[in-house]
Amino acid sequence: MSEIYESPEILSEYLLFHYGTPEEILPGDREWPAGMRDALDFPVRTVGHFSSTSVSRGLDLGCAVGRSACEMTRTCDEVLGIDFSHAFIRAAGLLKEGNPVPYERCEEAARTTRLVARIPMGIDGGRLLFRQGDAMNLPEDLGAFDRVHAANLICRLLDPTRLLERLPSLVKPGGELVLATPCTWLEEFTPRNHWPVTNTLDWLSARLERDFSLLRSTDEPFLIRETARKFQWTTSLVTVWHRS
Ligand SMILES: C[S@@+](CC[C@H](N)C(=O)[O-])C[C@H]1O[C@@H](n2cnc3c(N)ncnc32)[C@H](O)[C@@H]1O
Repeated sequence: MSEIYESPEILSEYLLFHYGTPEEILPGDREWPAGMRDALDFPVRTVGHFSSTSVSRGLDLGCAVGRSACEMTRTCDEVLGIDFSHAFIRAAGLLKEGNPVPYERCEEAARTTRLVARIPMGIDGGRLLFRQGDAMNLPEDLGAFDRVHAANLICRLLDPTRLLERLPSLVKPGGELVLATPCTWLEEFTPRNHWPVTNTLDWLSARLERDFSLLRSTDEPFLIRETARKFQWTTSLVTVWHRS
């Protein structure tokens, strides 16, 4: 499993990605293309694909530093966030307890700006639980959830099929599943023999359609700031599924 998600630099990038204000990500001292602004708030927008009714249990797999799990608590009584990175889960745990988490935004070279991440207004940290774990080898006693969210996770797994095979037992009948993936299949994370042979949407459908119906698929852009002048602008394929 890749160690990159344990590094302080990537932890800072994700704290900014999940909790940074628009001004912290795209400071007003420069003109930014409108498409960059449209790509902000990805961890909030993916959760917006669930229906708005209130339910009991939510699960966010590959939750990173926890922003989407926070957003899921607005309509779920309790949300469990699981991520393989100890560093990410430690930060998410501190945030949910109401602690400010300081981090360094990289400007260039060794120049950084100190920022602070905080749990967003209106989020009840008491509804959140974060656990380090492996999405391909989840505990048997996890139970079933009304909503399962996994954003930009499957193409970071060694063997994504192991998660896809577990999903029918993780989502309650009538429940919802939101899967987002930028389809950036890389040998660094996933051996080539575990990549989709067809396009990712057809590959997902072939594996899920026995237990889920596809409600819709769409694209959501996201923006990860690496330095003051270097950003990842990527489009994630978001699929929304209903558990039959
Ligand atoms: C590209 S990031 C996406 C994070 C977050 N969902 C988002 O959209 O910002 C991939 C995440 O998956 C986590 N991850 C990678 N392999 C994992 C595994 N086997 N089990 C659980 N999480 C894993 C990484 O630690 C990282 O937080």
